[in-house]
Amino acid sequence: MKVGIVGCGVMGSAMARIIKDHEEVFLYTRHPDNIKDLAKEKGVTLCASFEEIGNSCDVVILAVKPKDLEEVAEELDPVLEKGVFLLSILVGTSLSRLRSLFSNPKVFRLLPNIPLLCGMGLIGVADEDEALIEDKTKVDQVLKVLGTTVWLDERLMNPFAALTGSSPAFIYLIIEAMIQAGITVGFKNGEAKELVLRTIEGSVALLRHTGAEVSEARNAVSSPGGTTIAGLNEMERLSVRHGVISGILQTLEKGKEMEG
Ligand SMILES: NC(=O)c1ccc[n+]([C@@H]2O[C@H](COP(=O)([O-])OP(=O)(O)OC[C@H]3O[C@@H](n4cnc5c(N)ncnc54)[C@H](OP(=O)(O)O)[C@@H]3O)[C@@H](O)[C@H]2O)c1
Repeated sequence: MKVGIVGCGVMGSAMARIIKDHEEVFLYTRHPDNIKDLAKEKGVTLCASFEEIGNSCDVVILAVKPKDLEEVAEELDPVLEKGVFLLSILVGTSLSRLRSLFSNPKVFRLLPNIPLLCGMGLIGVADEDEALIEDKTKVDQVLKVLGTTVWLDERLMNPFAALTGSSPAFIYLIIEAMIQAGITVGFKNGEAKELVLRTIEGSVALLRHTGAEVSEARNAVSSPGGTTIAGLNEMERLSVRHGVISGILQTLEKGKEMEG
């Protein structure tokens, strides 16, 4: 497949670096000097115009900022033939808004999270009109090297963004706090980081391995009158659980406010 990427900032460049090992990649950005190194890599072609991207690609990923959308759509839409797939990763930009700006391509709205940078992303795709199976297969084919694709009713896209898009930051906050505790009880920073990351990886792997409910797995580590339950009680007293839930709900509210 020939995959075009319009806008080569943080996300566009990162996606190009992964996709180029599996598909032919064509890039278009306003300031090509910023991506000189990427443009020299095997499997990547730097395009000089929107026309060149339009003439070359079956699938185009739109990775500009929402503020640049209208300007880009004006020039890009006329050069995309009917049947070309346009995959937008613009946060807070609904499918209906995208469709009002692009009349030619088949438009899909994506919400990727940041672990796609290492091929472990979760990518929500709005499935408003219940896209055709063969179209979904084509989209899945392009995205599979970036992580796991989840097709969702569009009304769940903002909740999906709050739960999966922002959560890497929340998880990093928890990891930082655990490392800080590790240093407090006597480990060096690097040692504490390694211990914390391995504990998290192991805990997730065990959950997947046993298929247990999370509360069951937690109870299994908390013996009566023991050390873990003492720690859990202190965390509950400090409303850690409520803080996490409330943080995610606040993220959703902010997303709605920004979309509005
Ligand atoms: N960063 C994230 O974690 C994340 C996660 C999910 C989704 N997203 C979405 O991904 C999109 C890109 O985010 P980003 O962080 O990669 O932004 P970014 O680093 O600012 O990249 C945007 C790119 O678009 C280019 N661009 C702007 N106008 C253009 C035009 N008329 N023609 C061609 N290229 C143009 C910019 O070029 P110049 O440098 O020349 O302006 C820049 O290279 C955003 O819509 C964001 O909502 C981001």
